[in-house]
Amino acid sequence: MNFDLLKLVRPNVLKLKPYSSARDDFKGSASIFLDANENPFPNKYNRYPDPHQYKLKERISELKKIKAEQIFLGNGSDEAIDLLCRAFCEPGVDNVLIPQPTYGMYAVSADINAVEIISGKLTKDFDLDLDAIKNQWNPNTKLIFLCSPNNPSGNLLSVDKIKNILGSFNGLVIVDEAYLDFTSYEGFVPLLNKYPNLVILQTLSKAWGLANIRLGMCFASTDVIAILNKIKPPYNINGVTQQIALENLQQVELKNKWVEEIINEREHLRSEFLKIPSIKRVYPSEANFLLVQINDAQKIYQQLIVKGIVLRDRSNVILCGDCLRITVGTPMENKELLLQLNQL
Ligand SMILES: Cc1ncc(COP(=O)(O)O)c(C=O)c1O
Repeated sequence: MNFDLLKLVRPNVLKLKPYSSARDDFKGSASIFLDANENPFPNKYNRYPDPHQYKLKERISELKKIKAEQIFLGNGSDEAIDLLCRAFCEPGVDNVLIPQPTYGMYAVSADINAVEIISGKLTKDFDLDLDAIKNQWNPNTKLIFLCSPNNPSGNLLSVDKIKNILGSFNGLVIVDEAYLDFTSYEGFVPLLNKYPNLVILQTLSKAWGLANIRLGMCFASTDVIAILNKIKPPYNINGVTQQIALENLQQVELKNKWVEEIINEREHLRSEFLKIPSIKRVYPSEANFLLVQINDAQKIYQQLIVKGIVLRDRSNVILCGDCLRITVGTPMENKELLLQLNQL
């Protein structure tokens, strides 16, 4: 590997002078702030939030055992995905490699930014095809998006194969660990200091139960994080989100209890699904959902909607013919789903 971050960043981003907010220009304490054109009459929300989310990053740094400077926070992981495309890919010139099927926003962000997509194909067990991937990247490939556990299949990708890619690709390897809490694997964070081209995405939207507040986390080398911070909108994480995230990140035990219950329910659903004759296959999952192959998937999807139950129809997705993706619900919701499926 011949990794050179300075060669990877878009030249305009490299020479960009970032916006400096009022809170960047003056960081000390004062009793009268007349520098940000805020409304002076106090309600809880009249002041701009901390643009660098120092307190929240301190807590995340404690939880994840990495330096705060290795953390970028985004308005959902989706913001980090977009900023990665914008920081490193020259529109119309560079490309990103996305083994499919996987989470749709990698391709959408690339498309929005006029960045070419090289669509790889996972194996039929939804693992990485190392030889194919290595044949597909070229000198203009800046990013490879890998999702583990993968959405929509639910399986972890082979750790050794990801390490192999990290060791041989000159661009950034983004490992999206949105569903990591549902696995017993420690994930790639401990390898951050070994691989300068490793970028990890995690989120509060899944196990932590905070999809509504939009907080995505990106972990990487301090140099990569500095580039993302340089191009982010100044106040991308609002104050309410920072506060709620900080409070909830104290509740590790509650999160772990939810995860345990979701995993138990997932395995209960799996064994019950296998008893339903029209279900042909339940794919292995280490996430909070199951990919299920079922006869007439589209028809079943519509019939369940009539009963008030919405699944995700993935039957038109590559390698997912006749597949529905089913999020694990509460025990009551899962019971109702099984009842309805058994009646169809
Ligand atoms: C793999 C993966 N990454 C990221 C996200 C979105 O995360 P966020 O809510 O932080 O934008 C999802 C949502 O479904 C996902 O499946």
